[in-house]
Amino acid sequence: MSQTTHALPSYLRPDDLGPWGIYLQQVDRVTPYLGSLSRWVETLKRPKRILIVDVPIELDNGTIAHFEGYRVQHNTSRGPGKGGVRFHQDVTLSEVMALSAWMSVKNAAVNVPYGGAKGGIRLDPRKLSMAELERVTRRYTSEINIIIGPTKDIPAPDVNTNEQIMAWMMDTYSMNEGSTASGVVTGKPISLGGSLGRREATGRGVFVVSCEAARHIGLEVKGARVIVQGFGNVGGIAARLFHEAGAQVVGVQDHTGTIYNGGGLDVPALLAHVAETGGVGGFARADKIPDSEFWGLDCEFLIPAALEGQITQHNAGQIRAKIVVEGANGPTTPEADDILHENGTLVVPDVVANAGGVTVSYFEWVQDFSSFFWTEEEINHRLERIMREAFDGVWHVAQDHKVSLRTAAFIVACTRILQARQMRGLYP
Ligand SMILES: NC(=O)c1ccc[n+]([C@@H]2O[C@H](COP(=O)([O-])OP(=O)(O)OC[C@H]3O[C@@H](n4cnc5c(N)ncnc54)[C@H](O)[C@@H]3O)[C@@H](O)[C@H]2O)c1
Repeated sequence: MSQTTHALPSYLRPDDLGPWGIYLQQVDRVTPYLGSLSRWVETLKRPKRILIVDVPIELDNGTIAHFEGYRVQHNTSRGPGKGGVRFHQDVTLSEVMALSAWMSVKNAAVNVPYGGAKGGIRLDPRKLSMAELERVTRRYTSEINIIIGPTKDIPAPDVNTNEQIMAWMMDTYSMNEGSTASGVVTGKPISLGGSLGRREATGRGVFVVSCEAARHIGLEVKGARVIVQGFGNVGGIAARLFHEAGAQVVGVQDHTGTIYNGGGLDVPALLAHVAETGGVGGFARADKIPDSEFWGLDCEFLIPAALEGQITQHNAGQIRAKIVVEGANGPTTPEADDILHENGTLVVPDVVANAGGVTVSYFEWVQDFSSFFWTEEEINHRLERIMREAFDGVWHVAQDHKVSLRTAAFIVACTRILQARQMRGLYP
């Protein structure tokens, strides 16, 4: 029987697609540009493999708790799955599916030899003790052990997971294998085969593509005004690099509030304040302003580096930045994308802008396989080259097709993924 139109998989509800629905819209936007490869496009609309696991652990008080865990491998046409693991009480299958698909697109957009994957557990890590967190991490790793591995699917940190969680995952996988498999996860501590430069890589990549974008539109970074939402790993590092390049970081928002200093914030002092107090709120050398005023602040660069869905149809019209560089994953809704495009704001999409993290994860994996470790200068140099080339490639496709950088990034990435699929053919 020939079947060319495909219904949604039965495990999805058409009226409640969540983040996966946003991803599907992005694929639909790019399909007209895929030429004969559009014959294969359905492959992008169905994750290759979805594993849902029950993660039971004994709590410190002796009771048994069950958590819901996922690992989704969206596509492995270009190489093993690659993508982070998120610990959050609101994680859903739809979210993990979308994040895994964005990893496929990101890895193809910057041309690292990976497919896309993502994992998550529905839990609030702040409510668990360290011992409970270790037990839940180890049990989750054992449950997904059947589909991960250094040549199959390589997890990494994401929201609320860190080097320690990666060390426990690596140890658990290695115990099951009977040998130390450092290449099974990236984002590990340096002492366990982690890479120099990995912690700063995403923020550094955001800064590098910001400079490239500025160069293409004739904007000077030195003296430019920057506002940043989220002052954690990504936002904090990007802000520091902008500051060191002579830009003025004038506004910062995080979960503790919004601060502003029109003369430029003292970024090193702010980083020290955040390290000490956990947030930007209460920083002395700035004015506290209402959160709602953040988006309309006068600036050249806006760096969303916190959560998904922050720039919406309700605030996109207030944005005065010339360039928005998406440090976070999925910070802009498709409606807001259209508003920014109409207003002439250049949006550097997440799948390029925040790919520095996975690029240095790739370096970590290569170093683990060869057991030979590179210097930080070498890593930063290679990172900057990959980020610049990726941005320039996407820029030219956007010019050729007169489309946004997001659609251009999807054109580049989906073409690479579907070419790989076509060359490999369908098994059997
Ligand atoms: N760390 C990486 O390597 C990496 C790589 C690619 C993408 N990302 C994405 O970047 C984003 C940030 O990741 P991170 O590693 O910097 O996380 P992080 O936990 O280090 O920092 C998150 C920041 O967001 C802020 N925040 C949280 N809720 C907020 C709210 N309601 N309003 C304003 N700010 C809020 C927090 O205060 C914190 O400053 C996430 O979307 C993540 O998926 C991270």
